[in-house]
Amino acid sequence: MTGSDFTVLPRHVAVIMDGNGRWAKQRGLSRSEGHIEGAKTFRRIGEYAGDLGIKHITFYAFSTENWARPQQEVAAIMHLFGDYLNEAYDRLEENRAKGIRLRFIGDRNGISKELCGLMDTLEGLTADMDKVNLNIAINYGGQQEITHAVQSIAADVKAGLLRPEDITKETIEARLYTGEQPPVDLMIRPSGEQRISNFLLWQSAYAEFWYSDVLWPDFTERHFDEALKAYEKRNRRFGGI
Ligand code: FPP
Repeated sequence: MTGSDFTVLPRHVAVIMDGNGRWAKQRGLSRSEGHIEGAKTFRRIGEYAGDLGIKHITFYAFSTENWARPQQEVAAIMHLFGDYLNEAYDRLEENRAKGIRLRFIGDRNGISKELCGLMDTLEGLTADMDKVNLNIAINYGGQQEITHAVQSIAADVKAGLLRPEDITKETIEARLYTGEQPPVDLMIRPSGEQRISNFLLWQSAYAEFWYSDVLWPDFTERHFDEALKAYEKRNRRFGGI
């Protein structure tokens, strides 16, 4: 498919990359091997979304709750994330030619200094790009994100920089990790689960959801097309009639 095969494209797509563990279990492999396949799917779908003309896409790579997993699995995910960062750095010119801006959303506390350094470098080196905004959520939690925004607003109120009556929806939005990016139009969750799992809570206030039983490592460009076709048919009323 190409972007022109769709009458309307979502401006912002959010993807919960779920089902890596089950995919591995079905094959008698370790959970980490499931994440290796999941990381390949992430690369393919990220690239495809950009080719279709999706302007903003956010992938959920690691949640604030995922630290509760076995240490070996956490290390494997961080390692795969590091591999991706190094690859993105090696392919910087290629990514810049495609107009890709990289952002990493989530709490940097808890992430290694080395990974944080690479994330800062990549964000800086792609900050002038605006064709495709590729966001990766790492150590991310929607409730934590809103809590941080509230803390920063409270600090400004305390310092006399902001009056409580001047706080608007935009004041809060500007302090979220996604900053000035548009709200989520379409949220994709494979693997049969039908929950939001603390992902982009504020930004998904009016998001359309698309679920499927396919496990993330088996998710293909055709599934992504299917989600976009379903989105095309939705009648979005935003609380109106
Ligand atoms: C959820 O599936 C998946 C994760 C918690 C990790 C996702 C990470 C990657 C795809 C790789 C690293 C990321 C990048 C950006 C290179 P699950 O393990 O909960 O699956 P299950 O529900 O079947 O157990």
